[in-house]
Amino acid sequence: MKRIGILTSGGDCQGLNASIRGVAKSLYEEFGEDGVEIYGIKDGYKGLIFGEYMKMKSSDFSGILTLGGTILGTSRQPFKLMRVIDETAVDKVKNMKANYKKMKLDCLVILGGNGTQKTANLLREEGLNVVHLPKTIDNDVWGTDMTFGFHSSVEIATNVIDCIHTTATSHGRIFAVEIMGHKVGWLPLYAGIAGGADVILLPEIPYDIKKVAKTLNDRIEKGKKFSILAVAEGAISKEEAKMKKKDFKAARAAMTEPSIVYRIADELKPLVDNEIRVCVPGHFQRGGSPCAYDRVLCTRFGAAAAKFIREGKFGVMTGLVNGEIVPVPLEDVAGKLKTVPVDCEEIRAAREIGVTFGD
Ligand code: F6P
Repeated sequence: MKRIGILTSGGDCQGLNASIRGVAKSLYEEFGEDGVEIYGIKDGYKGLIFGEYMKMKSSDFSGILTLGGTILGTSRQPFKLMRVIDETAVDKVKNMKANYKKMKLDCLVILGGNGTQKTANLLREEGLNVVHLPKTIDNDVWGTDMTFGFHSSVEIATNVIDCIHTTATSHGRIFAVEIMGHKVGWLPLYAGIAGGADVILLPEIPYDIKKVAKTLNDRIEKGKKFSILAVAEGAISKEEAKMKKKDFKAARAAMTEPSIVYRIADELKPLVDNEIRVCVPGHFQRGGSPCAYDRVLCTRFGAAAAKFIREGKFGVMTGLVNGEIVPVPLEDVAGKLKTVPVDCEEIRAAREIGVTFGD
């Protein structure tokens, strides 16, 4: 009898349930329904720390392919605090190992992004068998060409820009749309290109507000009264990019606007004649059903995870590399961030059609 635990950790995204289903159905196929017991761990690592888990039935994994969110629940448990024993005196690592042993697991399947992956690697170092599936709308996990959730959120963010486009055109307004991505700009880059944005501001390319204003004014001069800016949550000015981390944090903490897109709109107002409005779709971008691409990717990741378990390949991530799902050792990838290369083909193509990145 194989005993497999499964948890979803960190910010949710589309495709978590599709991946859980992929893992479970493949395990039942591999080992037979009487040959495997699956334990669902509640709310990410929190459930593993505090012993909150339940034995699942095969029927629990039916009808969830298209369901958004996660049937297991999730939470953010910062990696940097995992080894810290706080005022509650809970030894998180000790508890996680004890609960893994209590469930008599052969492997723990972990669905999550970068932070989750670092803890998965910690558990590997502690001797637990783990397999990690890369999820996040940010697509910033090193060692996989694609994370699940990314394409679904690109669809949503693109749809937002499309809808804003029509009203911006009618009114001749400039709209700045804030797209998720604090440290990494894959989502604003893809949604910006797909939505036909005129300006795309990414964390990887610090912007000069005067250059952004010039692009908007040039368009107005050409008779194009409306413009669309796709602004990453983590967009950063050239001045800020030169600051020390501490000063940058203090400057952002002192910012009076609710988020960066509002500040950018405020900075642009005195420099541009047309009306400027802001749109923040926020967590819409993480909600709802996974798109068809993600449903396929999640199924492939899930099936690969079950195969790795059967083959005894532990301490790995299911990575999509050059079109194939391969076992990527966690020790090679944990702690690395897949940022957008500033000279990548997507950025070059966007520049070639006249998109401004504000640099
Ligand atoms: O990591 C996914 C993500 O949606 C980021 O794009 C975003 O910056 C962050 O999570 C938001 O986190 P929270 O849901 O905790 O506010």
